[in-house]
Amino acid sequence: MSSEVYAPGLEGIIAGETAISTVEGGLRYRGYPIAELAENTQYEEVAYLLLYGELPTRRELESFRRRLDEARLLPGELVRFLRSLPPGIPYMDVMRTAVSMLAHFDLGYRSWPSEPTAAGALERCIQSTRRIAERLLAQMASCLAAYYRLCRGLEPLSPRSGLSHAAQFFYQLNGEVPDELAVRACDVSLILYAEHEFNASTFTARVITSTMSDPYSAVVGALGALKGPLHGGANEHVMPLLRRIGSPERVETVLQEMLARKERVMGFGHRVYKTGDLRARILTQWAKRLAEQRGETLWEDIAQRVEDYLRQQKNLYPNLDWPAGRLYYYLGLPMELYTPIFALSRVAGWCAHVVEQWQANRLIRPRARYIGPPLRPVVPLEAR
Ligand code: CMC
Repeated sequence: MSSEVYAPGLEGIIAGETAISTVEGGLRYRGYPIAELAENTQYEEVAYLLLYGELPTRRELESFRRRLDEARLLPGELVRFLRSLPPGIPYMDVMRTAVSMLAHFDLGYRSWPSEPTAAGALERCIQSTRRIAERLLAQMASCLAAYYRLCRGLEPLSPRSGLSHAAQFFYQLNGEVPDELAVRACDVSLILYAEHEFNASTFTARVITSTMSDPYSAVVGALGALKGPLHGGANEHVMPLLRRIGSPERVETVLQEMLARKERVMGFGHRVYKTGDLRARILTQWAKRLAEQRGETLWEDIAQRVEDYLRQQKNLYPNLDWPAGRLYYYLGLPMELYTPIFALSRVAGWCAHVVEQWQANRLIRPRARYIGPPLRPVVPLEAR
């Protein structure tokens, strides 16, 4: 057996190769710096880049958008299921079940290679994954909007073709598209959330795929991992903390108490970024713009004081969830939608990794260091 390497939480371990993104030297998707993508592209272009490897030409983008529009309508059975749910179910749980159900109503999925090791099956798996990815991009957004409306006693809205992905989401939520600044701010958040190499949910999707399971299962698993507050769930905790602090003068007192109790400040810290997260810096600008437009800059003032305090006292920097939690609040979105919105975006990254895992698959099966009882005999039941 090779020499043992042990790193709790796999910290610092290179667990595979990827050509999709890197966090080395600033986040890049397929070679493009994240700041340039956030400045010059729309989410759909980024999703295409992740899934197909290159930015689309205008024609490729139009065709991609058309395919998304064609896939947006939900199966009636899924809407009936959403209607039947008891109140108060967490949105991420609903998304997880919905993705699992969507597989049953995807006729193309039924021909998912039953023998993925047969000749030609690899190419079919890759093509199928991209097709499923497009469906999930469209349908997870429709599903979230439909569930949101049903929870408020409103009927789900049919999609309106020709809108951008971000505008479409707003339309399906509220029946109207907000102003350009709001749509673009949401669009940029989707670009920034779309991909982040071997984060916990993506790694989960790759582990599932490495057993030659299907993309729906990989996305269901990834949703489960994303839900946790150490990963995607952090953005929902930002506004409650800012409200609890209440004013810039109270920042030090509240944070001192939290840190003394060893409480984590959600939206701060990162396993890889130890000197700041570029994505957070980009999205903070958009959060500030929206706050100014709304004339509601109190939360930005408090947020800035929190950032200063944690940098000075703990050398902790905000991650993307910190500005995202405020930005979605300024967009008028209720908190329970924040982590599912992260999922709507990250599904592009997950599926790109599923494709890549297929392209050079090796079962992901690490070893464990045993720390249980030493060798001992089994005592028969009568003698225990
Ligand atoms: N608040 C307070 N202290 C913190 C925080 C935080 N958010 N993050 C790290 N620390 C402290 C931690 O207590 C420890 O201190 P000490 O050495 O005194 O015990 C030190 O910093 C190192 O922490 P760690 O747990 O070893 O760091 P990690 O690499 O395991 O943690 C993390 C990464 C993201 C789990 C952690 O920073 C955290 O829990 N953050 C809050 C949750 C959060 O914002 N998650 C979103 C992550 S980014 C979005 C995404 O990609 O999903």
